[in-house]
Amino acid sequence: MIIEFNRVSKSYGKHNKALADVSFAVDAGEMLFLTGHSGAGKTSILKLIMKIEEISYGQAQVNGFQLRGIKDHQLPKYRQGLGMIFQDHRLLENRTILDNVAMSLWIRGYSQSESLKQARVILQQVGLAEKLPFYPSQLSSGQQQRVGIARAIVSKPDILLADEPTGNLDPDLSLELMELFMKINEAGTTVVIASHDLILIKRLRKRVLILDSGQLIDDYRPNQK
Ligand SMILES: Nc1ncnc2c1ncn2[C@@H]1O[C@H](COP(=O)(O)OP(=O)(O)OP(=O)(O)O)[C@@H](O)[C@H]1O
Ligand SMILES: [Mg+2]
Repeated sequence: MIIEFNRVSKSYGKHNKALADVSFAVDAGEMLFLTGHSGAGKTSILKLIMKIEEISYGQAQVNGFQLRGIKDHQLPKYRQGLGMIFQDHRLLENRTILDNVAMSLWIRGYSQSESLKQARVILQQVGLAEKLPFYPSQLSSGQQQRVGIARAIVSKPDILLADEPTGNLDPDLSLELMELFMKINEAGTTVVIASHDLILIKRLRKRVLILDSGQLIDDYRPNQK
């Protein structure tokens, strides 16, 4: 199991319960969706995995680490195994596309030339070879979203997490992005995508975890009886 949640609860402050007793397990190499209404807890699960937020009750194990036991000095090593794509992509506006992606390696200790080299390769893979010297504002939202994906996968994470990656995209572009995720998954990366795009999710025939008011109410695997 690369991800295992065991009766995990999360409260923000005293009264705002976001997740209640959530348990699930993900095998290495799986691709799955987290879905549910707005406020159901999708982003909270991703934030717990990223260790942007802390678990309130319960235990979770991710990529060989017990989440609650990770010490501050272990955090960079833990996060090295993860790639995160945010809904608002969070690109640096005053940096080129190439720099935005290369930076992800550079902060991990790669040399500048190696970072740039690998960033070029990944940007080509996501179909942005022509856009290297451009700035984020000069790209369409689908292209910006692909830069976000390139940035998350350039360090070859074991687990890729994406929060509403198709949020602002039209159906054709959304499907194209999902095909990119499937390719990344087929290359061996575990992929977890939070999305409320049920039509798209149905088309892809992947496992779906359904959240409702912080509770996991279904774990649906279309290919299994
Ligand atoms: N930083 C925070 N402080 C307080 N409450 C929060 C915080 N973040 C999330 N919550 C609450 O936790 C619950 C779950 O939020 P979460 O962001 O996980 O939902 P979501 O399923 O991602 O929703 P959406 O589809 O709107 O993105 C909500 O009730 C929300 O108000
Ligand atoms: Mg969310």
